[in-house]
Amino acid sequence: MYEQVSHSLLNEILDELKPEIRRQNLRHFYTRLGANFYAIHSLFQHLYGQRDDFRERLIDLVEVMASRYIERSDELERRDMDRERDHNWFLGQQWVGMALYADGFADTLRGLTSHLPYLQDLGVNMVHVMPMLLCPEKASDGGYAISDFRRIDPRIGTLEDLDELAASMRRRDMLLTLDVVVNHTSDEHEWARRARAGEEKYQDYYYVFPDRDIPDMFEETMPEIFPESAPGNFTFDEAMGKWVMTVFNKFQWDLNYSNPAVFIEMVDIVLTWANHGADIVRLDAVAFLWKKIGTACQNEREAHLILQMMKDCCQVTAPGLLFIAEAIVAPSEITKYFGEDAIIAKECEIAYNATLMALLWDAVATRNARLLNLGLASQPAKLDRATWLNYVRCHDDIGLGFDDADIISAGYDPAAHRAFLVDYFTGAFDESPARGKPFGRNPRTGDARISGALASLVGLESALERDDAEGIERSVRLILLLHSVILSYGGIPLLYYGDELGTVNDYSYLDDHAKASDTRWIHRPRIDWQQAERRHRHGTVECRIFEGIKRLIAVRKGIGAFADFNNRELVACGNEHLLVYVRSNPADAADTVVVVANFDARPQHLDLDDLGSRLRLPVARPRDLASGEAPAIHNNHLVIPPYRFYWLGGQRAGGMI
Ligand code: GLC
Ligand code: GLC
Repeated sequence: MYEQVSHSLLNEILDELKPEIRRQNLRHFYTRLGANFYAIHSLFQHLYGQRDDFRERLIDLVEVMASRYIERSDELERRDMDRERDHNWFLGQQWVGMALYADGFADTLRGLTSHLPYLQDLGVNMVHVMPMLLCPEKASDGGYAISDFRRIDPRIGTLEDLDELAASMRRRDMLLTLDVVVNHTSDEHEWARRARAGEEKYQDYYYVFPDRDIPDMFEETMPEIFPESAPGNFTFDEAMGKWVMTVFNKFQWDLNYSNPAVFIEMVDIVLTWANHGADIVRLDAVAFLWKKIGTACQNEREAHLILQMMKDCCQVTAPGLLFIAEAIVAPSEITKYFGEDAIIAKECEIAYNATLMALLWDAVATRNARLLNLGLASQPAKLDRATWLNYVRCHDDIGLGFDDADIISAGYDPAAHRAFLVDYFTGAFDESPARGKPFGRNPRTGDARISGALASLVGLESALERDDAEGIERSVRLILLLHSVILSYGGIPLLYYGDELGTVNDYSYLDDHAKASDTRWIHRPRIDWQQAERRHRHGTVECRIFEGIKRLIAVRKGIGAFADFNNRELVACGNEHLLVYVRSNPADAADTVVVVANFDARPQHLDLDDLGSRLRLPVARPRDLASGEAPAIHNNHLVIPPYRFYWLGGQRAGGMI
């Protein structure tokens, strides 16, 4: 938008840029800067306008954006332009992701490059490489405590290795996703070290206080994120003789975004990784970006403004770059990370669908889809050109972040129901075959979360141990059932490495002091490639799961209705064990798929006449696109075996499916 104040300021800033920047051909950069500058200026003014150095910092910001633009390769700039033209490119059903630790998956970045054919064979074409930057050997929080935002951990590889990985992925039409841990640094980061040595400039990068007065005020309303391993939100630093805010672990210092220098550093870092070939950056722990006394210090309005400004700035330099919001927060808060009061995403284009993830686990434990249906029905609508990252497992714990009102509507008491789920997945509940571990138990609030590999949580580990064929069958079906939902729901499905092979819990973390108190390590495996070979042997568990998921991925890619244009309708089918939704293709009315998933241990049925009238289209002799088979139908009732799912398509003519 054109507005006089910001435009005249922009003209002045352009005149004051360093000569080496002015000499460049910046035509595309300038058109985009012109388009976004009003927004950038307004947000920057709102957040930092009261500071004397406001104007200098704004010039710094523009210089960072311009410098990173000048460095951007021609190849990446061409991609930016292609994506500008094809702006819905990331909503298509062809994208299937996997999150992995480079070392756990294949030892190093080079190892990962050499295993790209494995991922391609499975159908994965988006890879989220979890943090690979320099971090302390022990106090690393799984790579999320970063000591240098620009250096790759030498144990994992070099910058050249990453560039090679990125180039190889581009040739294969695969997308690279990298983390940027925006909320905090490790206490070994140079900024923290210099703060500790007394440099005020760097103390201002963090929340540093001489005594407990302000920290105590903050503590009154801040929850604890790691109550067992890192209680409280502040840590006394002996060397500095001051308190520093550490919301996560004691060794992770929270960055202070009320200082514009911090924001500018982060824009620089995000763009640096974009220039190294990241198609997508995952912005870690974004809900925590703004701290205010008297609040929970999560989901604050300013955190959203920071993200909007980050988006506006990155669009100018690298418009093809997408953001993933990692905001594992209440269902009503998550969708705000796409941007509020907007038409298309104006913060992050992609967000973790933590709501769906947690609800799916509820359905596994209860064998019914009551809460799942209610929770999905109350999930706020999302914007156009914004999409979900749908996942079953990730490297973190499973938080039971459902809405209390939905739990009550489903007929449960919220506290008792959450306690049941933790008991169920940690195997404390009698009938449960699950082998999870509790995470983050907080005796004061009664809260707890859950760790555990997918295969162990659904009972595969215990069934294999007992040589229980029925249990194995049930677990394999559950694994495929859960994947069938994330692959058809709408959004980018994100598999978690190892799950495609049925990898169970890894207990070796217990022998390592630095890890033993954090149960999340139980589900961060090292892939055993010899065992992975078993996926080629017919009848093995590895083969059934790998081939099952591979088939689903291949089928998904051919179904236009699975692209994400907010084209999903939940169907209240009257059977509490079933999750039923319809996906329709806005470009082709005949391309409609009904997804039916049975979470119960007994076969369930669905009245097709009733379904037809609810869908306002006749449903006759449907075919299951997922298996290629015709499902059993009895008296016009569809029969869904235990833990089975269907992707029903069929005769396309006449509106039938
Ligand atoms: C993110 C990461 C998690 C980490 C936390 C603190 O939530 O996913 O693994 O512990 O941030 O960095
Ligand atoms: C909390 C945070 C989330 C993080 C997780 C790590 O749930 O909200 O961002 O991933 O802790 O376990």
